Formats: sequence, structure tokens, C-alpha cells
Amino acid sequence: MSTAEKDRHQPLGFSMVPPGREPGVQTEPGATSPGSGDALGERLAAPLGDDDYVDLEAELSSANVDGLLARLDSELVGLVPVKTRIREISALLLIDRLRARYRLSSARPSLHMCFTGSPGTGKTTVALRMAELLYRLGYLRRNGLISVTRDDLVGQYIGHTAPKTREILKRAMGGVLFIDEAYYLYRQENERDYGQETIEILLQVMENDRDDLVVILAGYRDRMDAFFQSNPGMSSRIAHHIDFPDYNADELMSIAQLMLSEQGYRLSEEARAAMSAYIVARMGQPRFANARSIRNALERARLRQADRLVSSGARRLDKAALMAIEADDILRSRVFDGVKEIPPA
Ligand SMILES: Nc1ncnc2c1ncn2[C@@H]1O[C@H](COP(=O)(O)OP(=O)(O)O)[C@@H](O)[C@H]1O
Ligand SMILES: [Mg+2]
Repeated sequence: MSTAEKDRHQPLGFSMVPPGREPGVQTEPGATSPGSGDALGERLAAPLGDDDYVDLEAELSSANVDGLLARLDSELVGLVPVKTRIREISALLLIDRLRARYRLSSARPSLHMCFTGSPGTGKTTVALRMAELLYRLGYLRRNGLISVTRDDLVGQYIGHTAPKTREILKRAMGGVLFIDEAYYLYRQENERDYGQETIEILLQVMENDRDDLVVILAGYRDRMDAFFQSNPGMSSRIAHHIDFPDYNADELMSIAQLMLSEQGYRLSEEARAAMSAYIVARMGQPRFANARSIRNALERARLRQADRLVSSGARRLDKAALMAIEADDILRSRVFDGVKEIPPA
């Protein structure tokens, strides 16, 4: 078992989650509209006496928090530090809600976050899961995330930026606002850049409306560090800085296999060796984007598989043939142009 696989099998859920329970088996509250009553927070109203007990496991599973954590664990390869932080945040929110039932007051934690890492390391994916988790835990009133970049927030002309930013904030309220490549809001070389206006509004809202909005900033680590250097007010409002490391070749292979099995494909033995060689070659090439490059490579492998099957002249195909990605489907990639030797299966 590769390290990546081992990581995947470390249960992420809280320890009382029975092993082997199928993640996501509980009916998903599909209609997660505000007030649907599925979020944990809405059901924890009745105060308890000093000698009462709370049923931790019941609380966890009834809001399907454990199912969500288990899914996060099984559907995302590696990312152990990220998963650990998410589990800690979930635990804190859960314990806070239980404490509230004994009238033990605790300040509502601020949960603005910053996700740093290269493209394709899972930042957007995790942000979506985080939004759902915060909703299920009763921290947010809506299960929703709005993903924006500078252009969605900053206007082109004087007077356009504030209304544009406020409109986005209005749409995001109650849920998560995800700002990708947030550092583009700040242009060091231009003090009068309209982005500054957005930053100031954000700073205000992140402070005043933090009960009703979680802001997640995302982007490359070094550029985000520089952004925070120039905008210390922003940095001080971020409660969690979470780094998404690049995946290693083993993890990328596990990701490939996970993506394929989710789509009802599998690699033949020779194809697995070809995929390993592909990953190593691709990692060293320009514009490599971690798991996203893997997803794209598999899309193209599917095209080649389909083309191979259709042009094979075969009149009948079985299920296994339709599922199988063969070595050739991978080796015909341009990534191998100029690669002299491909290791044998
Ligand atoms: N650890 C992982 N395990 C499985 N798939 C992943 C993992 N990380 C990323 N992916 C997949 O890779 C693709 C790119 O991820 P994304 O979250 O968009 O990355 P980012 O936002 O960091 O650029 C998505 O299809 C996502 O599902
Ligand atoms: Mg992204």
C-alpha cells in the first residue's frame, strides 16, 4: 500500500464513528434550504441540567456530520494536515453547541480562512466541503459557496467597485465567499487601484458580519504571504491558514485510480505502469497542475479508449472492455513525445 493509500484509509471521522459504516448512507438532506431543520444548530435548543448527558454520537450522525467527514476522507487522497484541521474545527463547533445546551457560554469562533497551494491541490474542492460542513454544524445558515475572482468584485470605472463588491457580499451572506487568487485585489504599484476599495469593504464585513459570512481566500502561498505583508488587517482577520502541499507521484496515482473508479473505469496492469510513467513525465513539464492535470489526462485517455474501441472493428464488446483503459490509451499522450524509455509493466 502506498503512503497515499494508507493516508486515505486513516479514518478522518471522530473516533465514535463505527468503522465500516458506509459514508453518505444516511439520506442526504437534499433540500438544504434555510430552515429545513437539518442543520445541527437548529435542533440543539433545549437547555440541559448539570447532571444531564448529551449523546455525542447521536448529534454527530443526525446532522450527518460524521458521514460528511468520512466522505471527505475517502474521496480525497492525502491532504492529512488539511483533513486534521477540518476535523478540529468540526469538533470545536460541535462541542460549542453542546456546551451551549448547559448554558456554558463560548465566543463564536471566527472562521475566515486562507487556503494556499499550487493549482490543482484541492483548495476549491475542500472549500465546497467546508461550506457544507459549516452548514451542517449549524455555524452557517445556508449550504452555499460563491466563488469569485478580482473581476467579480472590482469595477473598471470610478464608483463601480463598491456596488459590485456589495452585490457579491449580499449574495454570499449566510454562506461562504471564496475569493480565488485574492492577492490580485492588491496592486502594489498602483495605490489608487480600485481593488483597494474592495479590500476595505471586505475588511469591514469580515469583522462586522463574521456571524453570518465565512470568507476563504485562496491562491499561491508566496503571493498570499506578500499580500498579507501589505495588508496586515486582512491577515489578522484570518483564523485558519491552511496549506495544501503538492501531491507526490504515489498520491497522484491514487487520485487517478480514485477518479477512474468513480467513473466506472479501471487501468489494466500495463496501463497502470504507463500511468505511473505518465505521472513522472508530466510532473516535470510546464503547467503541471497536480490533481487537475490528472483529471485532464484521464479525460483524454477516455477519448483514446473510445476511439480505440470504435475503430477496432470489433462487432461485440463486453463490460470489461468498456471499462478498461489500456496502456496504449495512455502512451499515445503527447507527454511522452521525446521520452526515450517507458518502463515495462
Ligand atoms: N486529494 C484529492 N483527491 C482526489 N481528487 C482531488 C484531490 N485534490 C484535488 N482533486 C481533484 O482535482 C481537481 C482540481 O482540484 P481543485 O479543488 O479545483 O484544486 P484547486 O482549487 O487547488 O486548483 C478536482 O477535480 C478535484 O476533485
Ligand atoms: Mg480552485
